[in-house]
Amino acid sequence: MRLVRRAFWAIRANLCPIPGPFRPPGFQSGAQFMDINCGCPIFEATRRGMGSAMLRKPRALARMVAGIAAESELPVTVKIRLGENEKSINVETVVEYLERAGAAAVTIHGRTAVQRYKKAADWGRVGDVARATQLPVIGNGDILTHYEAVARLRESGCTAVMAGRGALIKPWIFQEFKEVRRMRGGERG
Ligand SMILES: Cc1cc2nc3c(=O)[nH]c(=O)nc-3n(C[C@H](O)[C@H](O)[C@H](O)COP(=O)(O)O)c2cc1C
Repeated sequence: MRLVRRAFWAIRANLCPIPGPFRPPGFQSGAQFMDINCGCPIFEATRRGMGSAMLRKPRALARMVAGIAAESELPVTVKIRLGENEKSINVETVVEYLERAGAAAVTIHGRTAVQRYKKAADWGRVGDVARATQLPVIGNGDILTHYEAVARLRESGCTAVMAGRGALIKPWIFQEFKEVRRMRGGERG
């Protein structure tokens, strides 16, 4: 147990270099990218400095992403929130660091970790970040139908959008997205 804990702290502190190019889990099954979840608000994760707690230290997060991206055979993407709470919104800074760290894309859930699902996702902020960075931004939050997906794509300047709970309500939502896209001749939105 002590050894596991020590190894964990070594990884967190970036004292544990990855030994050469590595194939992330899922590579053999055809995964096309590896996503690091830095948006999880659950206490079990944040009390260990994982999930959305990583947003507290953008530099450390960028070091970790740079280390993984440099060695991974798959592109590395990162999922984040606007910040930890409303007083510490730092999405612009985090995205800047991630871009320099070599992330292939960033997904932004337009809420803070403390907000959970209490407020509507702030697509204004997501759009501002998407327009200001060269990094492909995947916007996320409150997309429950293909109408919303199309509208958010158009208005926000995001490269793509992500649906979460919409897929729990309608597990066929991705099929709908695909069909709408095909009907529109592959155009964005
Ligand atoms: C039951 C449930 C499980 C989730 N699990 C994950 C997860 O494993 N990794 C992740 O990045 N986000 C996870 N999320 C967050 C969603 O991916 C998404 O960011 C969030 O629900 C906001 O998008 P939505 O408004 O479309 O649901 C989960 C959400 C729910 C409701």
